[in-house]
Amino acid sequence: MRLKLGEIVPRPLDVVPVVALVFFEPSTRTRFSFEMAAQRLGVKTVSFVADASTSVAKGESLHETLQTLIAMRPDLLVVRHSGDRAVEYLLKTTATPIINAGNGVEEHPTQALLDAMTIFERKKKLEGEKILFIGDVEHSRVARSDRSLFLKMGAEVAVCAPKRFAPKTLDWLETKQFSSLSEGLKWCTVCVGLRIQKERHQNVESGVSNEYIENFRLDKKNLSNLNSEAIIMHPGPFVDGVDLNHEILNDPRCVIHEQVTNGVYMRMAVMGDIFGVSYS
Ligand code: CP
Repeated sequence: MRLKLGEIVPRPLDVVPVVALVFFEPSTRTRFSFEMAAQRLGVKTVSFVADASTSVAKGESLHETLQTLIAMRPDLLVVRHSGDRAVEYLLKTTATPIINAGNGVEEHPTQALLDAMTIFERKKKLEGEKILFIGDVEHSRVARSDRSLFLKMGAEVAVCAPKRFAPKTLDWLETKQFSSLSEGLKWCTVCVGLRIQKERHQNVESGVSNEYIENFRLDKKNLSNLNSEAIIMHPGPFVDGVDLNHEILNDPRCVIHEQVTNGVYMRMAVMGDIFGVSYS
């Protein structure tokens, strides 16, 4: 039987599904947690990382690379890319189920789900929580997806960022902004640190000044303004000494590694839903 491109392979029910993890950008947490989640569900994975061992190094386009991987008929694609328009179009038009593992500055939906889960575990609700994003919000797909989900769940959202990293897109237009981190930290019940996303900077200065560190780093001194019941989050990866000081990992309010753990559970839930399998 010949299949058309994009058609799902019909298979006997006893054949284990195969998930293709396709990462055109670096990742530790997202890629590894999808892999862990698939193993826990009893689903198989194949992994593609655009490095020197692949035909991307010979000049093959990302679009053709993805088309080639789709032609191998995985049951599910998990894709991370930098926002390449041709890749985006192909993902929108293929019939293969897709999970977005981060696309450019736009979205990182499973991160938003695991972040919501982490807040929910600690605070038992999202409604009424006051969530502050700190640092390079403009270039953060995590902040964009978080914002959208947290507002739907009834939370309030605010930003504390230098002018060059303050969000400028329409979705953030009405968002409360703090110019002082101490004021923002006094206001919030959840603070979210963000990495400076140098790889996405086109017309802004990426450099880290002492002033940036003084005003936006999550460290013992700045966090003395945060309520004892509040929580400290960061999607990772973090740059120690710039977006936070590793000393805060021992702060009982810090849930950064809980976010990582929940990443596996949340991705199990998402893929389990697609394949109709669960784990108990
Ligand atoms: N939070 C996140 O997406 O981390 P990775 O880039 O390590 O996957």
